[in-house]
Amino acid sequence: MAILIHNANEVLTLQSTVQGPRRREQMSELGLLENVSILIEENRIMMVAPLEEIKEQFPSLVDNAEVIDALGKIVMPGFVDCHTHLVHGGTREHELNMRLAGKSYMDIMNAGGGIHYTTTKTREASFDELYDKTYEHLNDFLRHGITTVEAKSGYGMNWETELKQLEVANKLQQNHAVDVVSTFMGAHAVPKEYKGNEDAFVKLLIEDMIPKVAKLGLAEFNDVFCEKGVFTPAQSRLILAAGKAYGLTPKIHADEIEPYEGAELAAEMGAISAEHLLVASDEGIEAMAKAGTIAVLLPGTAFFLRAPYARGRLMVDRGVPVAISTDFNPGSSPTISLPFIQNLACMNMGMTMEEVLCATTINAAHAINRGDVVGTLEQGKQADLLILDVPNYKQLQYFYGMNHTDTVIKAGRVVVKGGNLL
Ligand code: NIG
Ligand code: FE
Repeated sequence: MAILIHNANEVLTLQSTVQGPRRREQMSELGLLENVSILIEENRIMMVAPLEEIKEQFPSLVDNAEVIDALGKIVMPGFVDCHTHLVHGGTREHELNMRLAGKSYMDIMNAGGGIHYTTTKTREASFDELYDKTYEHLNDFLRHGITTVEAKSGYGMNWETELKQLEVANKLQQNHAVDVVSTFMGAHAVPKEYKGNEDAFVKLLIEDMIPKVAKLGLAEFNDVFCEKGVFTPAQSRLILAAGKAYGLTPKIHADEIEPYEGAELAAEMGAISAEHLLVASDEGIEAMAKAGTIAVLLPGTAFFLRAPYARGRLMVDRGVPVAISTDFNPGSSPTISLPFIQNLACMNMGMTMEEVLCATTINAAHAINRGDVVGTLEQGKQADLLILDVPNYKQLQYFYGMNHTDTVIKAGRVVVKGGNLL
C-alpha cells in the first residue's frame, strides 16, 4: 500500500545539485520545502511536491494511500550512522570511575582492559547471544531515527570470532528493519597472543583473514586502528592495501589519541573516509580536502574520553566533506543517540544546525557508499523517512539531549509510530 505524508510544517529533502559528498556551504543546503506532501509506493519515494500536483500525477495511488498527518512536525530523511562497533559482547561501565580518576583510555587497554576486555567477552558469547543483544541495540537506533548503521568487526581478532561478528551483522541486515553495512576491522588491536609479535598478526590479517572475508562477501570496507601502540602507519598501509587488492574499500581510525599522520595516510591510500581525527594535523586536513576523503567525526568519543574535540569547523571551512556518527562501542562511546551526537557537534565542534543534519544524512551515506540509495528525499530513493515532533528543524539542536522521533518509515514501511516500535 502507498503512503502519503501531508501537512508537515517543514520537509527537509536535503536535495542539492551536487552529486557526491557535500562540502563547505553545500553542507547547509537542506532543501527545505513548506506546503509539500510525500508519496511513497512500496519501498520507494514517488514524489515530493504540493498535494495537488501529486494527486494529478498519481490519482489512484493517492486515493488508496494510507495517509499520515504530520501537522506541527517536520519530515526528513532517516539518519545514517556511518561508524559503529555494533556487534560486541558485554559492557565496560567499570572503566568509567577509573577514567574519571585519571587513568587514560590507553593505560586501561595496555593493562589488558579496554578493547581486550570486550574481545574476551565477544569471544565467549554465543552467536545467538550476540545476535539478540545487537538486535536490541538496533531497535534502540530505530527509535532514535537511525535507519542505516555501519558495523565494524574487531572484537575477535581471531578468525572464529571475527567471522561470528561479521555473520551476526550480515544476518541482522537480512532480518532487522535497520540496514546494516559491514566493515571488517580485524586490525582493531593486536590481540594478547601476538604481543611482541605484531608483524605476525599483520601477516595473518593480510594473508589469511582479509582474503577470507572478501571471498565470503562478509564486508565492503576494511578499517584499521592506526594509533601509537596499536598499528603503525606502515602496518596500516599494508593492511589497507591488502584489503584494496581484495576489493575492500579502505577506512581508517586516524589521529584519535595521538597525532600519527593518519589523515595523511587516508588521503594517500584513497580511503573513502578517515574517522575520529581528534588530533589530525593541518597538513592531514589539507590532504583530505584535496583527495576528497570524508572526515567521519565522532564527538561522543571526545565527550566520553574527555579529550579535545576534532576541529570540525575548520575541516568544513577547508573543504573537507564531513560526516558525523556515534562511534557506538562499549568503551569510548556507549551511546546510540545520534541526535545527542548532533548536539555535541554543534556545541563543541562549532558546526551549524544545518551542517550537522547534512553530516548525519547524505554525507554519512556517502561515507558508506550509500549516497545513491539513502540520505535525501527524492524520487526513486529508498523511502527511509522520519517525522520528528518539532515545529522546525532548529529545535532539534535547541531542545538538546532529547529524542524527537515520532514516526520512522523504513523502506516504505512504518516501523516506529508515536515514538514506539511497531
Ligand atoms: O572508535 N579506537 C578504537 N576503537 C573504538 C573504541 C573501541 C573500544 O574501546 O572498545 C573507537 O574509539
Ligand atoms: Fe571507532
